[in-house]
Amino acid sequence: MQKDLGDYRKSYEKSALMEDSISDNPIQLFQTWFYEVENSDGVDEPNAMTVSTVGLDGFPKSRVVLLKKYTHEGFIFYTNYNSEKGKAISENPNLCLSFFWANLERQVIIKGVAEKLPENLSDGYFESRPEGSKLGAVVSEQSTVIDSRAVLEDNLARLEKEYSDKEIERPKHWGGYLVRPVSMEFWQGRPNRLHDRIRYTLTDEYEWKMERLAP
Ligand SMILES: Cc1cc2nc3c(=O)[nH]c(=O)nc-3n(C[C@H](O)[C@H](O)[C@H](O)COP(=O)(O)O)c2cc1C
Repeated sequence: MQKDLGDYRKSYEKSALMEDSISDNPIQLFQTWFYEVENSDGVDEPNAMTVSTVGLDGFPKSRVVLLKKYTHEGFIFYTNYNSEKGKAISENPNLCLSFFWANLERQVIIKGVAEKLPENLSDGYFESRPEGSKLGAVVSEQSTVIDSRAVLEDNLARLEKEYSDKEIERPKHWGGYLVRPVSMEFWQGRPNRLHDRIRYTLTDEYEWKMERLAP
């Protein structure tokens, strides 16, 4: 079987990324772009990002997770610390996060170092989740092999009974990671494949160096 996809071709014409009109601080530029994406049409989950880890098997692995907060310190997502990604991060905290916002013809690629959030912050976020999501975090031993879907549904039914009249506490193996960026690259599609790429790199002096990369 084969299918030729060579005819998928698009000219990117929506915007530009010029040094003299962007912030010296990449998190500031991220905020500007994120705001524009949130206020544009055609993106369902603007906070969906691809998280890549280097696995214990030596292979990179990427999967989508939801960005739940960003601050001047970095980017926060929540997951199961015992999952495949959790185990990978405990051996090698260097991660890559990436966003592709097709409607605005933009990509952001962030390299950074992950650390577990302080427990009280994970508690606070867990508290704010709907009951169903809380139970889901308790029920699922993320990334383990299970015999069937029934395993999950039976566990859920059991836990729904068990917790019908008590608070669901955050399982200790579930929580957030803060990813502190060391490099952030912004890509804006342009006509004739002459796309704009601006990369910010954190220097020893904790300042950001801005460079333009060839597309
Ligand atoms: C749109 C979307 C959002 C997701 N959000 C999360 C999330 O916030 N946290 C999470 O652990 N998994 C999330 N997932 C599931 C992950 O992609 C992945 O299946 C899971 O984290 C297990 O990954 P691992 O086995 O590589 O650790 C999401 C998946 C999709 C498609």
